[in-house]
Amino acid sequence: MTIEDILKAAPVMPVIVIEDLTHAVPLAKALVAGGLRVLEVTLRTPVAIDAVRSIAESVPDAIVGVGTLTHSEQFAKVIDAGAKFAVSPGLTPALAKASAQYDLPFLPGVFTPGEAMQARDAGFNHLKLFPAKQAGGIGMLKAMASPFPELTFCPTGGISAESFRDYLALPNVACVGGSWVAPSTLMRGGDWDGITELAREACR
Ligand code: 3PG
Repeated sequence: MTIEDILKAAPVMPVIVIEDLTHAVPLAKALVAGGLRVLEVTLRTPVAIDAVRSIAESVPDAIVGVGTLTHSEQFAKVIDAGAKFAVSPGLTPALAKASAQYDLPFLPGVFTPGEAMQARDAGFNHLKLFPAKQAGGIGMLKAMASPFPELTFCPTGGISAESFRDYLALPNVACVGGSWVAPSTLMRGGDWDGITELAREACR
């Protein structure tokens, strides 16, 4: 699968923070049941890598990847855990080199036109706009369309159940990322049906 295939597989990419490893598989199953197959598990908690491994082993319909990948040394570890793709809030020369070396579909983040040009020149036409709301949101994405017709974005950061459809309506947006479909309150309460319902709503 290419990063393009992955971004087209679902309209919303849940940005997941797993604090408790026992939440990983039921959360993934709940999201997949609601139609969201592409899951970004952020590398922000001690159990994140084990969460990716559990989901990769136990939820075959999920396309599980990692987010918050900021060091090139992380590539080998996440591939070993079964990650199918990686997302970063930014791009460095070391990350660009590692993504090519490991052949892992990679979605680097950008915030400015200059960063978008650097990413494009490094070979990336699919970019995360991060943090999307703070970067200018819908207006920024519209403004990026004319100078950069070759670029497609996955805006993430500050997107909500109320705003995500406006982003998806833009021709240069492939999908959006957001944590609203995997809220920690529902995870802590074990409300997996509630999470499936949030996922369904995001697919409607
Ligand atoms: C993040 O880094 O946590 C993501 O960008 C998600 O942002 P959100 O919580 O605003 O959806």
